[in-house]
Amino acid sequence: MREKVILITGAAGEMGQALVQELSHDGANNRILTLDLNYMPDEFKGMSTHIIGDILDERLFARLVTQYDFDVIFHLAALLSTRAEFSPELAHRVNVDGTLALLKMAAEQSQARGRPVQFIFPSSIAAYGVPDLETKARDLRVREWDWNMPSTMYGCNKLYCEQLGSYFSRHYMQLAVNRPVMIDFRSLRFPGLISAFTLPTGGTTDYGPEMIHAAAKGEPYACFVREDSCLPFMAMPDAVRSLLQLANAPRATLTRDVYNVTSFSITAGEIRERVLAAFPGAEIDYDIDSRRQGIVDSWPAGLNDKAARRDWGWEPVYDIDRAFDEYLIPNIRQRYQN
Ligand code: SER
Repeated sequence: MREKVILITGAAGEMGQALVQELSHDGANNRILTLDLNYMPDEFKGMSTHIIGDILDERLFARLVTQYDFDVIFHLAALLSTRAEFSPELAHRVNVDGTLALLKMAAEQSQARGRPVQFIFPSSIAAYGVPDLETKARDLRVREWDWNMPSTMYGCNKLYCEQLGSYFSRHYMQLAVNRPVMIDFRSLRFPGLISAFTLPTGGTTDYGPEMIHAAAKGEPYACFVREDSCLPFMAMPDAVRSLLQLANAPRATLTRDVYNVTSFSITAGEIRERVLAAFPGAEIDYDIDSRRQGIVDSWPAGLNDKAARRDWGWEPVYDIDRAFDEYLIPNIRQRYQN
């Protein structure tokens, strides 16, 4: 008999770590299988069965499906936006081929078990491509269907995989097989995420978290975008909460496959001011990287998350003040004092 598990890919990444922690402490006795190219940090011992592996490794999946019954898949593994611009073909393989392989595996599992497999997919503000700064300043709450013209490989990958997920949940193999494929695909478009405990790698919103962590460490920081660059952000606990809230929402209440979620919009200059207020000696200046600036300029300054609020009660716990004053600054301060 195969063991029923929650599968988390990219589990050693920022969101993965926060999600594993939440799922292993929620009292539901979840059996978690984590997959990543990297080891989980030591403090995660016992929280999951961890497999070091590549989502592109077909033989690995062929073996895993004989052993495990995937009830829910959180597919978090991806190359982020800046990293992807340096290796676009690799990004396409990981972000698109990897997602396709997982969807295919989920489809086969749903046929074998005769029940749906839930597939949760984090997407991103990178799915948007706002044409110019005037439009960005004017259109402060973009809706899910606005400006779906990404300017990065990562954004193209995310936008396409949202579509792929919807396709798998409605049409995949419908003509060809008599055992139905049942994929319950749900996706969230996240703003920039900031964690007090981990740092992202290879993203373009990284100046936010990097600035705060550097100041707490007493290291100088050069922000790679202009001070007036505005993006939506969210504290990591809210991101994890939204993933789980969407996963737990009754299917009948959902009117879309892909939902915007956000918390607060803030400029790089305003992040700097908040960081300086908390760490008065911090040395933060600007050293603009025009290519990364171009990416940030193409991402919206804010998201309209009305549908998520209406359909499944989304509401961030951490607004801008609580995110900085109650979550980020105290936890980051303590982290580096220790
Ligand atoms: N934080 C991501 C990045 O910067 C966007 O989803 O690539």
